[in-house]
Amino acid sequence: MITIALSKGRIFEETLPLLRTAGIEVLEDPEKSRKLILATNQPEVRVLVVRATDVPTYVQYGGADLGITGKDTLLEHGTQGLVSPLDLQIAKCRISVAVRSDFDYASAVRQGSRLRVATKYVAIAREFFATKGVHVDLIKLYGSMELAPLTGLADAIVDLVSTGNTLKANHLVEVEHIMDISSRLVVNQAALKLKQAPVRAIIDAFAKALAK
Ligand code: PRP
Repeated sequence: MITIALSKGRIFEETLPLLRTAGIEVLEDPEKSRKLILATNQPEVRVLVVRATDVPTYVQYGGADLGITGKDTLLEHGTQGLVSPLDLQIAKCRISVAVRSDFDYASAVRQGSRLRVATKYVAIAREFFATKGVHVDLIKLYGSMELAPLTGLADAIVDLVSTGNTLKANHLVEVEHIMDISSRLVVNQAALKLKQAPVRAIIDAFAKALAK
């Protein structure tokens, strides 16, 4: 049995065409079913529906052989026990620093002030500001980061930006582009050896679909 961990929403929808090119049809729609294990047209391939942040965990510990996860989630989790052979070029966005439009970020950085930064992406934010030599106090949040600068909880946020509409609607502006984000295929290191033929076949089919 080959198990693929996917999260609902954008990654799931954008992965279906890739799976189809690999000859795998998921037989149920996770938006309509409460089932968490979905069968496919291939009796030896199944799909797990997991929280986006849990995909690397399932794959690392072998609960799934393969998974699809954002680069953001992967960097936060770490790559131990995982191989990440392909950038699938789906669910593209960027991770940025944003502040209130009336906050003078450039001066704060220039003066070496200690910035309070709220984010779900603590590892990415820590690394980014350490490289810049900016001292930060990181405040971990799990969502609605945009509220932090509006309520005085933080000076800045580190968050995903796609269209920029959420920032705009909350009077925030992007002041640093940290990195581009897209989804990655991740594979359990042991599965790559123990289930080499079927796992390789899926990786190769994805790679072929991407090259089209
Ligand atoms: C992400 C992100 C922003 C929003 C950006 O949230 O945290 O809030 O999307 O998109 P935009 O630039 O197109 O407006 P998401 O909807 O993924 O939910 P989350 O708060 O659970 O991360």
